[in-house]
Amino acid sequence: MTQIRAKITGTGKFLPDHVMTNHDLEKLVDTNDEWIQTRTGIVERRILKDPDKGTSNLATEAAKKALEDADVDAADIDAIIVATVTPDYFFPATACLVQKRIGAKKAFAFDLSAACSGFLYALTTGGNMIESGRAKKVLVIGADKMSSILNYEDRTTCILFGDGGGAVVLEATEEEAGIIDYVHYTEGDEDCALYMPGGGSKHPATAETVAQGLHYLRQDGRAIFKKAIHGMADVSLEIMERNDLTSDDVAWLVPHQANLRIIDATANRMGVSKDKVMINISHYGNTTSGTIPLCLDDWKDQLNKGDNLVLSAFGGGLTWGSIYLKWAI
Ligand code: UT7
Repeated sequence: MTQIRAKITGTGKFLPDHVMTNHDLEKLVDTNDEWIQTRTGIVERRILKDPDKGTSNLATEAAKKALEDADVDAADIDAIIVATVTPDYFFPATACLVQKRIGAKKAFAFDLSAACSGFLYALTTGGNMIESGRAKKVLVIGADKMSSILNYEDRTTCILFGDGGGAVVLEATEEEAGIIDYVHYTEGDEDCALYMPGGGSKHPATAETVAQGLHYLRQDGRAIFKKAIHGMADVSLEIMERNDLTSDDVAWLVPHQANLRIIDATANRMGVSKDKVMINISHYGNTTSGTIPLCLDDWKDQLNKGDNLVLSAFGGGLTWGSIYLKWAI
């Protein structure tokens, strides 16, 4: 029987207009452009300023562009998955809002929460729906309005993140192309090295939780850095070995954009030269679920049919993983 695979047939992105530079942050917290650039690689990030807009707006705009790029009608989409840690609401899911706004009448839609690995988990989930034969076209979106959970008085976190989103259309193919393999891991973060303490069922919003700043992202940067630098490289090597890929076989590494030092370490361990690594952290910062689809859209004109791409991420959860895909368009 012919194996059905899921290939990406279109990509799209949306970034808010407002640019927040490192120099802007110097006015808010005790930091400086040189520290941020040398420690993270970030120069600026985008911020969604409109108080009436949330992650669904980023996701919807990215989705429309991906559909246009793939030349697919929203009414033909079978499922929509939005990876995010900053949904508009607890419920309805952000994906439901996207479904309505793009007119994806027959799609069922849900959110997936896996922090910085969210887009990869969602891509695997959408891919498996197609491989099972139950879905023919799936919209996979990664979007986050990180500014909504940042404390702009905490220099250790507010400099790192930005807002933005990207989307891909997955379609069924019988070619030896698209998503070929994946490896995902989870290690429950009981130490709370990267989390948001408030707003959930454990600490619902009260005047006290707001006063204590529990609704802001918190991170033990050093602890996460140590785990990320090993986790992302290990899983990238694992997917290469499982698929007999040498560094020469890899056309592009598409890494989660949390820190340029983590990206460089991963590429070095893989033996992949820097000209084959998608890096846009300098302009967007860490957009959590958005980083990898933003890269795919930024680089799509440089991708050729048959290119081997290794997508890798590490983040809160803890979650990490890699996907090997063969570019199919
Ligand atoms: O995407 C989700 C997963 N997240 C990640 O992968 C992030 C992983 N972590 C990191 O990328 C890095 O740990 C950071 C970029 C967050 C921090 O870089 P670092 O090299 O680990 O710095 P550090 O936390 O060890 O701090 C070094 C110094 C400290 O001062 P002392 O104790 O040496 O006096 C900090 O207080 O830098 C200080 N510092 C700052 N200085 C200026 C921390 N933040 C800042 C800042 N500006 N914004």
